[in-house]
Amino acid sequence: MGVSRRGLLAAGLGALALPGCGGGKAATEAPDRKVEVFSWWAGPGEKEGLEALVADFAKHNAGIAFDNAAVAGGAGTIARSVLTTRLQNDDPPDSYQIHAGRELADDIRRGYVEDLRELYTEQSWLDKLPAGLVQAITVDGAIYCVPVNIHRSNLLWYNPKILAGLDLTPPSTWADFLTQADTIARRGLTPLSIGPAWTQKHLLENVLLGQLGAQTYAELWTGGTDWEGPAVLAALRLFTEVLARTDAATPAGDWQPALDKVVDGGAAYNCMGDWADAYLRTRGLVFTEGYGVVASPGTDRVYNFLSDSFTLPKGAPHPGAARKWLVECGSVSGQDAFNPQKGSVPARTDTDRSKYTGYLAAAVAEWADAGTRVVGSLTHGVVADAAWNTAIDAALAAFVQDGDAARFARAVVAGRG
Ligand code: GAL
Repeated sequence: MGVSRRGLLAAGLGALALPGCGGGKAATEAPDRKVEVFSWWAGPGEKEGLEALVADFAKHNAGIAFDNAAVAGGAGTIARSVLTTRLQNDDPPDSYQIHAGRELADDIRRGYVEDLRELYTEQSWLDKLPAGLVQAITVDGAIYCVPVNIHRSNLLWYNPKILAGLDLTPPSTWADFLTQADTIARRGLTPLSIGPAWTQKHLLENVLLGQLGAQTYAELWTGGTDWEGPAVLAALRLFTEVLARTDAATPAGDWQPALDKVVDGGAAYNCMGDWADAYLRTRGLVFTEGYGVVASPGTDRVYNFLSDSFTLPKGAPHPGAARKWLVECGSVSGQDAFNPQKGSVPARTDTDRSKYTGYLAAAVAEWADAGTRVVGSLTHGVVADAAWNTAIDAALAAFVQDGDAARFARAVVAGRG
């Protein structure tokens, strides 16, 4: 970065972290009075979580104004392109949301983010996080983000009253779902509601997981599973069958309205992560009465995980305040304020379980259960970097039109780079 603002201010961060090192921001300079945090938590079910975290941050950091730079849009698809422009223009926020895992790889390679190992040591975080999560966020021995939660991708949401009226119980395989879909369609309901392109990818990863099993699914991303082999091709064809039972011709604008169709009675099921729990509660619904959930078909006892985390960009205008924001994200009080509102379980293992009720009580127990198989989400950044995900997006857009599984598989392999 040479003499860019990013490079100069990065040196300033070093001086703050290691007093007496010289260079960068003068020690006498006034402390940061503001922190600009970039996320995509602007919609119902997401902003409540962010607000709870910000309120806890304010308790510990009187005098630092929170500048909310959230850009609306599920899974950050819109936010990410806004952020990319800002980072390319050397105009970073003080901290930005990113998924733990491969999604961060490009930003690390481009030198956009600071290594936070020193903060991890100072806060004794390493032994407070599950080993698998630490592994997912460690790149060449360095750690560039602070995870605030664990979400589960592989869930199937339903309205218990609607299912009772249809005399159905949630399917345990995708083949069961296809059988049920005929009954549901005959009664005039959409079997499975769907939203924008990322929700189709979300469905795809969970059909693959349900059909292939945890091990084979995990190896799709590490090279051990042959995308063009018969098992994957069969699962991809099944995905087209499932998609044909959705309202993809008139998709919902985002994940919340796709869930609305389920609770309001237009659709029987929706495959979505557990941020749905937070959203459905904002609609005043009570778990098991107004809405129910099971693992998506074929994925019982598997946790297809993702983790929201925050970074310290190089050249952050307020690195001192950004560091305090990260401390908040990694703290017990921050995680226990945020996660009960967000529909996620804490990334830390030492938080107060009594704060997690309803759906989340079961999620906390299942996440902690040594018998639970953990795999990583494609759509939400864990298993593939941004370039591969972009290639998969393009291939999927073609696949949902032409239904050509072999062509899709070839494109996915070619896109790995
Ligand atoms: C995920 C994110 C979740 C939730 C969801 C829907 O990518 O990790 O926190 O916000 O998108 O927007």
